[in-house]
Amino acid sequence: MKETRVAALKDKIILITGAAGAVGAAVAEGVRKAGGIAIATDLKGADLTLDVTSEESWQRVVAEVGERHGRLDGLVNAAGIVAIGSVEKLDFATWRRVLSINLDGTFLGCKYAFPLLKERGGSIVNLSSVSGLVGGYNLAAYNASKGGVSLLTKSVALLGARNRPPIRCNAVCPAFLEGPMVDGIAGTARDPGSAMDKMSAEIPIGRLGKPSEVAALCLYLLSDDSGFVTGADLPIDGGLTAK
Ligand SMILES: NC(=O)c1ccc[n+]([C@@H]2O[C@H](COP(=O)([O-])OP(=O)(O)OC[C@H]3O[C@@H](n4cnc5c(N)ncnc54)[C@H](O)[C@@H]3O)[C@@H](O)[C@H]2O)c1
Repeated sequence: MKETRVAALKDKIILITGAAGAVGAAVAEGVRKAGGIAIATDLKGADLTLDVTSEESWQRVVAEVGERHGRLDGLVNAAGIVAIGSVEKLDFATWRRVLSINLDGTFLGCKYAFPLLKERGGSIVNLSSVSGLVGGYNLAAYNASKGGVSLLTKSVALLGARNRPPIRCNAVCPAFLEGPMVDGIAGTARDPGSAMDKMSAEIPIGRLGKPSEVAALCLYLLSDDSGFVTGADLPIDGGLTAK
């Protein structure tokens, strides 16, 4: 990594949700390597406890960041869950849970981070998915939640563009990545090994993505290098949605 890249987020304060997970942990590590201050949050196993579905939890964490740092430069909404199920099979409780973590959680993150981002401008990165761009017959709740994240992102971007300096907001849309989420999906199949092979075969590049590759895109979006990028859905999918 070149020196300039290493310093790309120098002294920037970045709050990350789902930071005990594959993508969130890779983002937190990348922020620190790039000279920034990562505030890693998750239900457990991170610097701060934050349940993204709880308004009270967000208020507490944002107040703590405000007291400790006086500002925020970036937010990465990486907390998320997947549930397999078609509109016919999925029960309402699972639908509500997926929407609550993936969509309500992202809404609350944007809402409560906004006041802290306003003074100096900043960047919000929302983890959407290729499933926010195209449908799958057995992904009813996940598709709805990520489609919501992608359009919420555009609304937040347009509000943030009115701020001076602007608050940018973009959605990152990965395909299947190495890590516990995809292991969990494969684990529900009769033959997890061949389910994994099938997922890789669906991707034109012929392999799953790496959390570090998604983190690199998030770091770019958090940095001033991406100053003219806002309101975008950025696929990082080995060509999956090019088909
Ligand atoms: N892994 C993939 O293949 C993939 C593909 C496309 C999009 N995504 C999205 O990227 C994001 C990160 O995925 P990942 O691969 O790191 O998943 P992961 O399962 O490794 O991590 C998700 C994290 O979210 C946390 N979380 C769950 N509920 C929470 C809550 N209520 N409050 C706070 N944290 C909570 C979990 O504790 C976990 O640490 C998710 O939004 C996911 O939908 C992942």
